[in-house]
Amino acid sequence: MQLSKRNFIKAALVSSAFVASSCTSKIFRSHKYYTKNSGESSLSKFNNKKQSTMSFELPALPYARNALAPHISENTLNYHYGKHHQAYVTNLNNLIASTELASKSLEEIIKISAADKTKAGIFNNAAQVWNHTFYWHSMKPNGGGKPSGAVLAKIEADFGSYENFVTEFKQAGATQFGSGWAWLVLEDGKLKVTKTGNAETPLTTSAKPLMTMDVWEHAYYLDFQNARPTYIDTFLNHLVNWDFVAENLK
Ligand SMILES: [Fe+2]
Repeated sequence: MQLSKRNFIKAALVSSAFVASSCTSKIFRSHKYYTKNSGESSLSKFNNKKQSTMSFELPALPYARNALAPHISENTLNYHYGKHHQAYVTNLNNLIASTELASKSLEEIIKISAADKTKAGIFNNAAQVWNHTFYWHSMKPNGGGKPSGAVLAKIEADFGSYENFVTEFKQAGATQFGSGWAWLVLEDGKLKVTKTGNAETPLTTSAKPLMTMDVWEHAYYLDFQNARPTYIDTFLNHLVNWDFVAENLK
């Protein structure tokens, strides 16, 4: 049955209201992850549960929703973090409730569901919860530009130059057809640029993710409309969090 435009808008509003109202208590329930200066470096911190029996919570952003402006606006964060990321958390909790996966960590759920085609919906939501949390940490206010220290040395050793890395990363982000992600990963001791479609994540491979850029349209459309290359330039010049890459490289 086709929805009329009016009914479609009504359904969308009801759906948004449901997401917002049903999750408020979970969003703001205290948790130990992602405090601003936690100094935690382990990727396991992306398992945003306090106890194995609890539902997943939307992890707090590592900065205020307006902190990435003027490059990424508060409006984008309100939708991208407050609606999209929250919806993945809500969907995941609903899909795993009363199943054997309810007691698993987020990374365990991603790996188990990636290997089982009947669990594609669970994989998509679990991986998107993880990917988005990793993306928020891959940016910071006043970030971007050429890194220094060990990160720059590793980039120059493995890509030949920082400029070569920039070219590869831009290429990966711009050529990911449709929705997906561009990544900087460590594989077999070497830095590599990769890209994944939809919810796919390097967590299901032997590569260790170090940094990611969301190239789903919802990441940039409110601020850049269809100009994905401008968003990618902005990410590299003003947002990428090289401190986070350095932590993950350790
Ligand atoms: Fe996204």
